[in-house]
Amino acid sequence: MLSTRLSFALDKGILSVPEDGRTCVFGACGSDDLSGLGAVQVVQGMRPEVDALLARDVDVVTAPTGDFSAALVVLPRSKVQARDLIAQAAALVGAGQVWIDGQKTDGADSIIRDLRKRTVVDPVIAKAHGKLFGIQGADLSDWRAAPIRLDNGMVTVPGVFSADEVDRGSALLAAHLGAIKGVVVDLGAGWGYLAAELSRNPEITALHLVEADHDALNCARQNVTDPRAQFHWADATTFALQGGVDHVVMNPPFHTGRAADPALGRAFIVAAARLLKPAGQMWMVANRHLPYEAALAERFVKTTDLSADAAFKVIHAERPRRKSL
Ligand SMILES: C[S@@+](CC[C@H](N)C(=O)[O-])C[C@H]1O[C@@H](n2cnc3c(N)ncnc32)[C@H](O)[C@@H]1O
Repeated sequence: MLSTRLSFALDKGILSVPEDGRTCVFGACGSDDLSGLGAVQVVQGMRPEVDALLARDVDVVTAPTGDFSAALVVLPRSKVQARDLIAQAAALVGAGQVWIDGQKTDGADSIIRDLRKRTVVDPVIAKAHGKLFGIQGADLSDWRAAPIRLDNGMVTVPGVFSADEVDRGSALLAAHLGAIKGVVVDLGAGWGYLAAELSRNPEITALHLVEADHDALNCARQNVTDPRAQFHWADATTFALQGGVDHVVMNPPFHTGRAADPALGRAFIVAAARLLKPAGQMWMVANRHLPYEAALAERFVKTTDLSADAAFKVIHAERPRRKSL
């Protein structure tokens, strides 16, 4: 959708590429066509998107480097994070143009309303269930977001999973992890809640936190200071580790962007089975309605639902199968 609005704006000459200088693009995905923008640097923290952009030889970083003439912000799901990125972009380009793109479902209209209280928003291109709009020379420094300090003392930032509180499913899973020992992998570790709980267990010899979201992993580094913890900015579905793993714990993601995507959770189940030793075990929480049973049966000989909770299932899976049936 970004590509549709962007190519329309470029074709019609509504958006022009700076003659010299680069455009900083916050949040573009691996599949976005940025070819009409000239020299770009993409700021992206989700590892699978970073890998896809790198595969296309795009300059991609987790924080912008150098000078820019213009910026483009692709709206994320969190409004606080969206405002933070727009403020960053505005500060980065000074008097240059900042373009903002998002679907209606990403809150594009609400951001336009907020911006109009502060500055001129012009032009506004409405197309393909979203909007691409421009601002210039606005001081939005008060939109920069601060880290969030939770009641349990842990730190998160806007935009990461369950930024404002411990996820109820994760808390339920944590209550079932008392007996695990040895080498443990936390797949999709987020800001480190499960790993922090596990680090109280002296029987654990190594604790690997695998997380795709760079911001979340940075929070986890602050929240889990145990020397047994190792941090991996990686795509869990392709993550590999030397030597076998005794336990995998996970609360797998079930969205890609805004769309529900149980295929991602199923790919986590496949990855867990691949990482485990033959006697290894997987512990997973998921919303009860998510269809993981076939993937579990294909990858594990035995699975047990440990929870009587109406909203969540806590799955204990044993005897991973090396290959599908
Ligand atoms: C449901 S959240 C659970 C987070 C954390 N374990 C907790 O309990 O609070 C799933 C996590 O998986 C991460 N994630 C999504 N896709 C991923 C991928 N391909 N590889 C690794 N992590 C991923 C998300 O960023 C998110 O932090």
